[in-house]
Amino acid sequence: MKAIGILTSGGDAPGMNAAIRAVVRTAIYYGYKVYGIERGYAGLLEKDFREMDLSSVGDIIQKGGTVLKSSRCDEFRTEEGRAKAVEILEEFGVGSLVVIGGDGSFTGANKLSQLGVHTIGIPGTIDNDLAYTDYTIGFDTATNTVIDAIGKLRDTSSSHDRVNIIEVMGRRCGDLALFAGIAGGAESIIVPEMDTKTEDIVKKLKTTQKRGKKHSIIVLAEGAENIEGGALGLRSALTIEDKADVRITVLGHVQRGGSPSAFDRILASRLGNKAVELLIEGKSGRVVGIKDNKVIDMDIDEALSMKKTFDDDLYEMAKILSI
Ligand code: F6P
Repeated sequence: MKAIGILTSGGDAPGMNAAIRAVVRTAIYYGYKVYGIERGYAGLLEKDFREMDLSSVGDIIQKGGTVLKSSRCDEFRTEEGRAKAVEILEEFGVGSLVVIGGDGSFTGANKLSQLGVHTIGIPGTIDNDLAYTDYTIGFDTATNTVIDAIGKLRDTSSSHDRVNIIEVMGRRCGDLALFAGIAGGAESIIVPEMDTKTEDIVKKLKTTQKRGKKHSIIVLAEGAENIEGGALGLRSALTIEDKADVRITVLGHVQRGGSPSAFDRILASRLGNKAVELLIEGKSGRVVGIKDNKVIDMDIDEALSMKKTFDDDLYEMAKILSI
């Protein structure tokens, strides 16, 4: 096998560095040369390669972000762009590529695989929106970041008898809102997958207030379009209908940063190690993931065609626990 390339692409996620470390160390252990490619597919097209050795991934397992940097690249979405990428990889003697990212990054990896580059995808996104794997790298850390914020907001919310709406990331996937909402004891959790209406939230607030609860935490997933006007619309409704004193916190990119949790570091280490093993076995066009705590791999096409299912049972449980 020729050298192995590695890049991180799309939105960064805590634990990407742990995955980079695992890929580099495993590849070197088995005698391969490794190139880190900076800024994802954009850096690939600009020949932004650097050879990585054992110490280049020292002291990064605990770091958030990605030492290889990340980007979203329009040129790579074109046929010409991808043909150019293949030529550049050949120029550097890179026959195999590990791509750490989400669904868009995997689509790119799949296209490269069809052009003869051996590719393996590692799921790195805080959204947990990939159906084939139970967890993506970064999701656990982001969940803990949200819980931390909920705890702090609950303190001040309680002091002032207020309602706090916390908007969290996740694009079209409500997992981050659901998991953080449960762990943070949120009174209401609003996700894109469930048809919660503004009036449901107003009703819920009135019920909890009746039993003497004066403050409330509402976790709102950014992709929950069923709530008219989003967080602002919800605040207006609660202010008018319930006369509640409402504050909004949009957590934003704080959720993407921070030192990865133990769970994410271990997941990233396992998946990085497996990705290289697959390349050594001559596999290509596959993604690695975790199912029932076992590392798995799957064809990229198959993985991308799977529809993510929302955990309705967990959502129903959250409703019971927050009555
Ligand atoms: O996909 C990861 C994610 O953080 C989403 O949760 C969010 O909607 C999006 O990326 C934000 O993207 P950007 O970093 O381009 O603002």
